Amino acid sequence: MATHKAHATPTKDFFVRMITKDISLEDCILDLIDNCLDGARKARHAEGPGVRVDDYSGFVAKVDFEANRFDIVDNCGGIKISEAIDYAFHFGRRANTPTDGDYSIGLYGIGMKRAIFKIGNVIDIHSSTSAEAFKTHINVTEWLGKDAVPEPGKQPPSEDWDFDLDDAERIQETGTKIAITELYQGISAQFANPTFANSLSRIVGRDYAQFLAKGFEIIVNGQRVLGFDFVVRESEHFKAIRLQYTDDSGVEVDIIAGMAGLPPEDLEPPEGKRAETDYYGWFVLCNDRVVIASDKSNRTVWGDDGFPFWHYQYNGFIGVVSFHSRNANQLPWTTTKREVDSSHPAYRRAVVKMKEISRSWINYTNERKSDMDEAKRREAGATPMPLFNVAPRASLEVPRFVATTNRVVVANISYAKPASEVAKVKKSLGNSNMTNKEVGLKGVAADPIMVPHLTIKEKIALDRMMPSPHSPTDGEMDGAAGFRLLRDQIDAYHRHYRHYPMFGEIQL
Ligand SMILES: Nc1ncnc2c1ncn2[C@@H]1O[C@H](COP(=O)(O)OP(=O)(O)OP(=O)(O)O)[C@@H](O)[C@H]1O
Ligand SMILES: [Mg+2]
Repeated sequence: MATHKAHATPTKDFFVRMITKDISLEDCILDLIDNCLDGARKARHAEGPGVRVDDYSGFVAKVDFEANRFDIVDNCGGIKISEAIDYAFHFGRRANTPTDGDYSIGLYGIGMKRAIFKIGNVIDIHSSTSAEAFKTHINVTEWLGKDAVPEPGKQPPSEDWDFDLDDAERIQETGTKIAITELYQGISAQFANPTFANSLSRIVGRDYAQFLAKGFEIIVNGQRVLGFDFVVRESEHFKAIRLQYTDDSGVEVDIIAGMAGLPPEDLEPPEGKRAETDYYGWFVLCNDRVVIASDKSNRTVWGDDGFPFWHYQYNGFIGVVSFHSRNANQLPWTTTKREVDSSHPAYRRAVVKMKEISRSWINYTNERKSDMDEAKRREAGATPMPLFNVAPRASLEVPRFVATTNRVVVANISYAKPASEVAKVKKSLGNSNMTNKEVGLKGVAADPIMVPHLTIKEKIALDRMMPSPHSPTDGEMDGAAGFRLLRDQIDAYHRHYRHYPMFGEIQL
């Protein structure tokens, strides 16, 4: 028996600051939407026990915000009063918490609290099931200052962590409404930014694509969110791989990968132009929720443990790995649902397969260089189809191109020029509509190296004068090289000397 006890209970203030610190506003909103989906799934399971829910039609979550308020309203079954008293407002899941229904998203028991504390100071929740309803009004500042009445003989006085709930009128369509006001300054500024709703809708459309495809509706500021279209292109030459297996841990794994878009023509990104790559890379889903999107880092395979880093050349590739489990605790995700637990054994085992698949694509993008025209013809002949409809197949099928021995090794030359200058060149070449690439090719033809063949000695003599801020004068040529070139020739040599070929000197 210890002589003393050191008090380790956290203060409410510290706790609230800590849980809200490392999560983005977007991810908090996703946490609230996750709860709507779990509610909908639970309601479907109540109608009749099912394994995985494939039909969410009729369920909707509406998110609305302005600079001074935030609301989320759903019709997803509501929270029972007994659940609210014992579990819903508890920080962290209690060991005896009933599961949220099979294949849930919620598992830590923190999402809703973290989200509302992050957004604002005054929170009103009204939730109604078909049998009962409650309301709660939380003023966070007051709640933080509220301490329990000290209990005689016990010390120190514990803080009061409870929230007050009141019975309320039931609503026709069962569901939950969370309304938040007195928003924090940074949050209010994000809501006031006109681009925030668009970027949130993009994230929502991507991360809930599977649920939206199954009929769930999400509305952001009055606009229905459209789901991200996961596609792969298939043809007689291109076929996606689909591996489905149950991992040793019991987690169900489904890996689909293939060609989502046409691979790039050039091997380097076009100067100044960001390629559209949001669809490419690896996606990781847990119980249908996207956890990592279009990853090109070592969070999946790229640059992981000696594996090649992502390269522009690999664009066109999509890989999706989905983990499902009745018990969300078994899945490789962290509390924000925005990171994978990369040490998770089921994930590590999947990564081995993901690397093999990525390797097939890398090899293809190398081989296609030997017959780019034919590769492009075949790629264009593949038609997009819904990724999740892909049939099981043990390998990724792509055309094989065998490098020929006499193939010409090509090098890409790219350089940047002010757009106004390029426009002038186009005009002077007589066609303002020509592409930049055409200007480049014409430019090389229009600026040939007009230098006569030089002997090695002559070239070395000239190169001693380079680099030089100006073309050598005749006097400098006399002094250093001992011979002269025409003015045009010496100007051209000054410009192109790095690329000037050498010719051998033969004694006849
Ligand atoms: N919109 C809702 N509809 C129905 N039930 C809800 C809703 N919002 C919250 N709940 C209930 O409140 C509980 C607590 O939610 P909270 O997001 O805090 O934790 P969680 O979902 O259990 O776990 P996680 O931290 O992983 O999200 C949920 O488990 C659910 O039972
Ligand atoms: Mg949750």
